[in-house]
Amino acid sequence: MRPTRRGFLAGATASLAAAQAAGALAARELIPFGSAVMISDFRSDAKLRAQLAKLCDVITPMNELKWDWVRQNRSGFAFENADEIVAFARKNGKAVHGHALLWGDALPAWAKELRDPKETERELVRHVEAVVGKYAGQIASWDVVNEVIAHEPTPASPWRDTVWHRALGPRLVDIAFATAARTDPAARLVINDYDFENDDARTAERRRQVLALVRRLQDLKIPVHEVGFQAHLYAEKAIDRRAVTALARELGRLGVGVRVTELDVIDWKLPADPRERDRLAAEVVTAFLGALIEGQRPQAIITWGLTDRSTWINEVFKRNDSARARPLPLDADYRPKPMMAAIEAARRLSEGRRVP
Ligand code: G3I
Repeated sequence: MRPTRRGFLAGATASLAAAQAAGALAARELIPFGSAVMISDFRSDAKLRAQLAKLCDVITPMNELKWDWVRQNRSGFAFENADEIVAFARKNGKAVHGHALLWGDALPAWAKELRDPKETERELVRHVEAVVGKYAGQIASWDVVNEVIAHEPTPASPWRDTVWHRALGPRLVDIAFATAARTDPAARLVINDYDFENDDARTAERRRQVLALVRRLQDLKIPVHEVGFQAHLYAEKAIDRRAVTALARELGRLGVGVRVTELDVIDWKLPADPRERDRLAAEVVTAFLGALIEGQRPQAIITWGLTDRSTWINEVFKRNDSARARPLPLDADYRPKPMMAAIEAARRLSEGRRVP
């Protein structure tokens, strides 16, 4: 049929509407961005709260849901610090990512003493039930296990030596995930770990081990929804882009999502000039996020803090020149750095699209 002018106009209007709808969709479909925040900064820094409200879709309480905050008292649960951050997030329409239900660090003294398998399992189950239960409907996703893969795993010895592993062995993961799933069936359950992105044998083994963990849970028919890439990126190390893409793609094939949970840049070995440091930090972030998104669209990109005012990198990765670290998207005066632009650009990328 020959197109009429009226038909053409109707078609043009329809395609404009479609384009507008696609634009609106694209805006809505930006990869969610978020940040972790610790309660002391949250309380003392109104400018930080304003930036969290302005920039974030997701907020992670940085420490306040860890055992050493919630469980100082063995018989009870102290939620008031986490509650403050969760209430702020909810009031401002943000999702909350929970960190972390099981970790070998940040334990109160009594938990470090756990030895008996039955008692350890009882405590773990009670903890996961109480914490996940308390925030069901408020915390949408959880790092169920954090850093359970050995720093340098081998096929014979893949697990990190923790109080949990000593008492429970690999079952620690099954117990934690099964309990979380039973307690809040709607929550997205995450295996969270670090050092998946570099080009060396140790990191390659860590990638194999996280896949093995996913398969273990799936074989047992225990729900696992995502792998969290902490992404504390060493600026001086090259990102193994092919390996990152391949891991994200393989997880996708297994029906498992990915999430960037603790993004920052370890800039201790970078040159002193702040502009050069910021440029190189943005570069490593672009390389990592681009490679990840090429393999699979992450559920969120969450940084481990928002401004360079407050970061663990200063304590753990001290520079020789004693300059302060610049690992985060905003500088110490809350101004966006090139890293923020790198994240913004990555949020617009779509899965499967190769980035230059
Ligand atoms: O709040 C107290 C303060 O009152 C006291 O003066 C000071 C003295 O040390 O300690 C303060 O608490 C510290 C807290 O951070 C707040 O700064 C704790 O000692 C310290 O252990 C705690 O460290 C946190 C660490 O996890 C252990 O929980 C870091 O903030 C936090 O960034 C870090 O985060 C971890 C992730 O959970 C897992 N992945 C790695 C990441 C970096 O290590």
